[in-house]
Amino acid sequence: MNANASSASDVLHTGEFTFSDANFREIAQIAKAEAGIDLPPSKATLVYSRLAKRLRALGIKTFSDYCATVREDDDERDSMIAALTTNVTRFFREPHHFEHLRTQIISPLADSARRGKRIRLWSAACSTGQEPYSMALTVLSVIPDAASLDIRILATDLNPHVVARGRAGCYQKDELKDVPANLRARWFQSVPGDNRGVMMQIADEVRALVSFRELNLMGSWPFSGPFDAIFCRNVVIYFDRETQSTIWSRLTRLLDARGALYIGHSERISGPANALLSPDGITSYRKRGAAS
Ligand SMILES: C[S@@+](CC[C@H](N)C(=O)[O-])C[C@H]1O[C@@H](n2cnc3c(N)ncnc32)[C@H](O)[C@@H]1O
Repeated sequence: MNANASSASDVLHTGEFTFSDANFREIAQIAKAEAGIDLPPSKATLVYSRLAKRLRALGIKTFSDYCATVREDDDERDSMIAALTTNVTRFFREPHHFEHLRTQIISPLADSARRGKRIRLWSAACSTGQEPYSMALTVLSVIPDAASLDIRILATDLNPHVVARGRAGCYQKDELKDVPANLRARWFQSVPGDNRGVMMQIADEVRALVSFRELNLMGSWPFSGPFDAIFCRNVVIYFDRETQSTIWSRLTRLLDARGALYIGHSERISGPANALLSPDGITSYRKRGAAS
């Protein structure tokens, strides 16, 4: 039987759009191959609801036709992957990571940074920018003139829409609720929004520290580090175990000997990286042998 022809027995959803097990398996296979995203059968309803919006937007009537479009159209394939990703984030998520970054990484490096040392930080699944900007605000709390020194934060994500939002650095007021009041007053200003009312834009001095780029963690990484800190949080949780281990190893190779790796609270280091990293706080890791 054709991979996309659906028989009555394999129909998963008969709502607005017919969605078959074969459609689900094809979508899951593409998501895995393109983005490492693991979609077990329990995610079928999620996949249906996330992609129903794409079918409506394109005026496509069935998931079989949608799969045919995705097979032929690279742009729609990217839009499908973007629709399947979860972009939830917030400023200073897991505040202990930023405290660790401030006290264990940035403060010890501040003097050498002022003498010209290069400092590089990476937010490896930056979503709409709250994570790399929280890193930047942490750097500025220790080194207020950071933008004039050799200090840069790389912010990358697979999804071009979130990368564009991060680069713009505009947020609704309630998205700033986790930013300490003194930092909010110092580094954000109100700007006229589009149809969403007044927005808060992060100051140019903060934006100057952060470079946003599209990057798929499953592909090649066009930089060699070393990074003094890498935040790779709440993304590998969507990957299978083998892919997770590979990502941890690749990130560890790019860490400076005294650098720190921060991961999400539901994530665990697995595979060969385990032998190279030691816990240093809650879900933060240093290379083994790095004096604390
Ligand atoms: C839940 S958000 C996490 C954002 C932030 N790191 C945090 O913890 O608040 C997950 C992000 O991972 C991105 N993502 C998913 N698969 C990816 C991949 N293969 N390469 C790069 N980014 C990916 C998604 O686009 C999404 O923005």
